[in-house]
Amino acid sequence: MDDKEVGKFWDKNAENWTKLSRMGYDKCRDLINAPAFFKMLPEIANLKGLDIGCGEGYNTRIASKTGAIMVAIDISEKFIAAAKEFEVQEPLGIKYQVASAVDLPFPNEFFDFAMATMSLMDIADTEKAISEAYRVIKPKGFFQFSITHPCFTISNLGWVKNEEGKKTGLVVSDYFKKSDGEIEEWIFGAAPTEMTDKMRKFKIPRFKRILSDWLNLLIRTGFVLEEFCEPYPEDEVLEKYPEEYVGTILPFFLIIRCRKP
Ligand SMILES: C[S@@+](CC[C@H](N)C(=O)[O-])C[C@H]1O[C@@H](n2cnc3c(N)ncnc32)[C@H](O)[C@@H]1O
Repeated sequence: MDDKEVGKFWDKNAENWTKLSRMGYDKCRDLINAPAFFKMLPEIANLKGLDIGCGEGYNTRIASKTGAIMVAIDISEKFIAAAKEFEVQEPLGIKYQVASAVDLPFPNEFFDFAMATMSLMDIADTEKAISEAYRVIKPKGFFQFSITHPCFTISNLGWVKNEEGKKTGLVVSDYFKKSDGEIEEWIFGAAPTEMTDKMRKFKIPRFKRILSDWLNLLIRTGFVLEEFCEPYPEDEVLEKYPEEYVGTILPFFLIIRCRKP
């Protein structure tokens, strides 16, 4: 499956994804991932940044409000349209563009930094996407991205539960199985079923890599590994949303920052 085909899947996901996530049902993003991502992000005020696979623009807007001058791309026209609509309603000066991560329409060394939130494992040809990120960043610039955790995000989650039915662990299987466009189907579990029952589930082509593949790919491209984070729910999150305790059992996400020498 190539990037254009993947884009067609995301175009079909975009409307419901945008609707549900803007209603606050992408809890993993809002409560766990984005807070950890921006806590780890270096100072970006006045820096020129690129958001790769920006979706409807939630994280691009946070980066922009943090002071960066943001350009954002996504393969899905519908996601970019939704992001632009938001920009019209609440202008932040973000430039959104339909483009593919594997063929970025920018000159070499154009950006001070690049970021990609939960998009790289959804991009066909991870290798090309990483080399394109490297190409458009200036020397000493950084690339920070979040992905589903390669060790724990397996397709059939086999939870171990105690007598009360509380999840206590996970049986990890098929770790070494790579997926090259295998379709995952789900919808945000936090959204009311009265809503989601009537909706088409998201169909997401996944490009699973094992942890060493990700790290070796970055190293081979020329990046210097700088920082890692396996997001853990903050105390306030656990108090307000006790069901997020599953994120204390193991990390579902991995954030990596690397730098162009
Ligand atoms: C899980 S969504 C994440 C969206 C957003 N970054 C966020 O954190 O909410 C993955 C995104 O990757 C995009 N994507 C997939 N393949 C792409 C490609 N080749 N180039 C650019 N974006 C791509 C999809 O269209 C989708 O918006």
